[in-house]
Amino acid sequence: MKNPTVPRAPAPASPFPANFTWGAATAAYQIEGAWNVDGRGPSIWDAFSQEPGRVFENHTGNVACDHYHRWPEDVRLMRDLGLQAYRLSLSWPRILPGGTGKPNTKGLAFYDRLIDSLLAAGITPWVTLYHWDLPSALQHRGGFLNRDLVEWFGDYTRIVAQKLGDRVRHWMTINEPPVVIGLGHQEGVFAPGLKLSFSDCLLGAHHLLMAHGRAVQALRAECRGPVKIALAHTGRDRIPATLKKRDVEAARSDTFASTGRTMSNLAWWADPIVFGRYPEDGVTAYGAEMPRVTDADLSLISQKTDFFAYNCYSGWPVRAGANGLPEKVPGGWGPGNPRGTLDWLQIAPDSTYWAAKFITERYRQPIVFSENGFCNPDFVHLDGQVHDPQRIDFIRRYLRAMKRAIDEGIPVEGYFYWSILDNFEWAQGYKDRFGLVHVDFATHVRTPKTSFGWYRDLIRSHGAHL
Ligand code: FCB
Repeated sequence: MKNPTVPRAPAPASPFPANFTWGAATAAYQIEGAWNVDGRGPSIWDAFSQEPGRVFENHTGNVACDHYHRWPEDVRLMRDLGLQAYRLSLSWPRILPGGTGKPNTKGLAFYDRLIDSLLAAGITPWVTLYHWDLPSALQHRGGFLNRDLVEWFGDYTRIVAQKLGDRVRHWMTINEPPVVIGLGHQEGVFAPGLKLSFSDCLLGAHHLLMAHGRAVQALRAECRGPVKIALAHTGRDRIPATLKKRDVEAARSDTFASTGRTMSNLAWWADPIVFGRYPEDGVTAYGAEMPRVTDADLSLISQKTDFFAYNCYSGWPVRAGANGLPEKVPGGWGPGNPRGTLDWLQIAPDSTYWAAKFITERYRQPIVFSENGFCNPDFVHLDGQVHDPQRIDFIRRYLRAMKRAIDEGIPVEGYFYWSILDNFEWAQGYKDRFGLVHVDFATHVRTPKTSFGWYRDLIRSHGAHL
């Protein structure tokens, strides 16, 4: 089947809304390096990447982009890009080396300076509290399987909010729960590399959601001034194979179904937060494997959030099968559909349109695309430039589809390109490059790619150059 979106996606006819935010994102472990500097404690990603055979060519994040030392240069790059907002994550073990207890002053000071310098450059920080780097000390105490995690995360959030909450207004609690529990605890391909039973994964998921709720409470209590809070979700991106009603409904129901024995059921994570209950289909399907869930747990989980943050990269066509039930179109977009250097990253631009539509219709919250990006085999060409036309084309297509949603009145309020820098792509190490800026991982020299200048012009024109 041919990807129906590629020839479509007309240029936008109207301007972007005034409140729309243009951003880019990173995560602490992927860029900071300095893994044992200034009192930082070890995290599960240090342990995992230092274990032979876990990461592509045994790469580690020990040095990564050396952002911990080179952050002034990186902030300058962001200023040159005209970035309005920068989504960064904080390293929990840099702030609390043992996970709990006394904070590491140097760790907090690092983020304190970074936030100040972003604000001085006119860039609004959007801070994620947890992007996968649990302090190892807490993993040794059971990590997500220990209900105490809820309070550990709450205490950590309080410390952060007391320090940064006078300046940071935009917060994300946890990045991509399906990856934390699914890839980390069910499939064992990401840290901490466990392969637990499904019921243990459901228990870990429940603790994760409660920890999110505790963090929301801590942010609201400790930050000075109004704050906007979300959890950064991801899910199965489903695109209707045709615009026939039955295919659209098939794609919608597959987007939210919670019957598969997987952690990537979006509704499993989002329904408890927004509606205060687990989805009925999952509760029925998982039966005795469900953890004990009390009303008090659910009211903690369902603290009010202010927007829906969503990370969106790829998408699969879905149609109504002969029995009316959703089915993935076999073969997806067909052989040769363009994709990134990561196999799962098939180009499917309409995923932003459908995600925005399905998610806002169900959850009635404005959506922000907190991540979207493309990995390419980028290198510095003989002329000294890094030419990445594929990335520019990718962003244009996804943004045009997103703009179509906006034009239909769907509240999409921001876009964060993943990532400002090439970085440590988890189990893929340094193989896959997502950056607007090329990083030479031997010298740490930064070279803005062609897409950097293009994105700068796009931001300047507030999206008119799409
Ligand atoms: C997302 C992660 C982010 C990055 C991109 C490519 O799942 O949140 O850290 O690795 O994928």
